[in-house]
Amino acid sequence: MRTLPALLTVLTALTAYYVYTPLPSTLSEPWKLMFLDATFRFAQDLSNLAHYVGLSHHLRVLNFVCNYFDKLDPVSSAHLKVTDTLFDGVKVRIFEPKKETRGSLQRSIVYVHGGGWALGSARTRSYDSLCRKISEDVNAIVVSVEYRLVPNVHFPEPVNDVYAATKYFLQPEILAKYSADPNRIAISGDSAGGNLAAAVCQQLIQDENVTTKVKLQALIYPVLQIIDFNTPSYQQNMDMPILSRYVMIKFWLDYLNGSHSFAHAMLVNNHTSLDVGEAAALRQLLNWNSLLPLSFKKNYKPLIQNIGAPTIVQEVPALFDIRASPLIAHKETLQKLPKTYILTCEHDVLRDDGTMYLKRLEEAGVDVTHDHYEDGFHGCMLFASWPTYFSAGARTRDGYVKWLIENL
Ligand SMILES: *[C@@H]1O[C@H](CO)[C@@H](O)[C@H](O)[C@H]1NC(C)=O
Ligand SMILES: *[C@@H]1O[C@H](CO)[C@@H](O)[C@H](O)[C@H]1NC(C)=O
Ligand SMILES: *[C@@H]1O[C@H](CO)[C@@H](O)[C@H](O)[C@H]1NC(C)=O
Repeated sequence: MRTLPALLTVLTALTAYYVYTPLPSTLSEPWKLMFLDATFRFAQDLSNLAHYVGLSHHLRVLNFVCNYFDKLDPVSSAHLKVTDTLFDGVKVRIFEPKKETRGSLQRSIVYVHGGGWALGSARTRSYDSLCRKISEDVNAIVVSVEYRLVPNVHFPEPVNDVYAATKYFLQPEILAKYSADPNRIAISGDSAGGNLAAAVCQQLIQDENVTTKVKLQALIYPVLQIIDFNTPSYQQNMDMPILSRYVMIKFWLDYLNGSHSFAHAMLVNNHTSLDVGEAAALRQLLNWNSLLPLSFKKNYKPLIQNIGAPTIVQEVPALFDIRASPLIAHKETLQKLPKTYILTCEHDVLRDDGTMYLKRLEEAGVDVTHDHYEDGFHGCMLFASWPTYFSAGARTRDGYVKWLIENL
């Protein structure tokens, strides 16, 4: 019977080892985050194991583990009518405030959920609640787009889905059907959804067939570039909870249908070394030395390889596609973009993606607002209620909603 306490001790030590990650004290609720992160890492390890033994693609398993038991039917409330429907063949969930005054036009927001282009859904509890909250507080119609996910599809299909659904909604007769005000429409998304929202917003302003102009874009800790994985925020936060640099690179490779075998070369920017044709010009656009404030640059040094791996762009031709990396768009495109809100978090590899985009937009003359959260971490806006309440979660969500109320 003496083996039991010994066994328990070993188990406890193992669990502690798995859960314990030293985190900066400037983070919102670091202990809670440690447990949340351990849960997520456990789900990832389980998915990788299932992939390894040939059960299914790791992203399909991960999505199943995270979301399968979490999908909600569209449930209307006293304030909102909630329905699932199709916009040009793309599934959408629509939240419509029940109007007190008939005939008046309403504001509207096209929302694109995050999850590395592979996880999440407009129907999960987290996104359903977020869109309800936005719809109620802003008193706006929210169209939450259920675009198809990796690995069932790859780039550019998710962009095409969001584009098709948005373009459908922007038609005068469809806006009229929903009593949506054509002058007060926003497009918004978080993380990979922010990437899709930014890409679609750039496409919309260049499409001569779209006559309705989007008034605002609001991007929440968006992914915006695959050129440089050594920006100060990628260097500073490479092992942060929820989204490490290595995991972000693997999400990118799965999205662009590239092999994971490139991941280690991309960690050191070998995919954009100076012997890669387009890389030098792209690096000029993305020169973070001039785009980031000193407080973000700190003492980090740019990592630019002279010789790298030119084969990666040959194998992954979408690598330099602007629809994948909206941050590398030309100034002529950026100039035409609507008023923009960008939310960034200090403890997030993507902090500098959002900040660089903001600076480029500002230089192009676009009206921009930057909300930066010193104690925020990637994905925190989804964690604003029990049992995964983080004060940074509630504050980021409330700040974002406030901006929409005031600007839409
Ligand atoms: C605009 O509509 C015309 C006619 O339907 C079509 O030929 C053209 O390709 C469309 N342009 C874009 C950018 O979709
Ligand atoms: C993705 O890559 C695999 C292997 O390289 C290839 O067989 C497949 O056709 C590609 N899929 C798409 C949608 O390009
Ligand atoms: C990066 O590329 C250089 C030159 O081809 C090579 O020597 C080095 O091993 C590569 N690094 C990684 C991590 O792949």
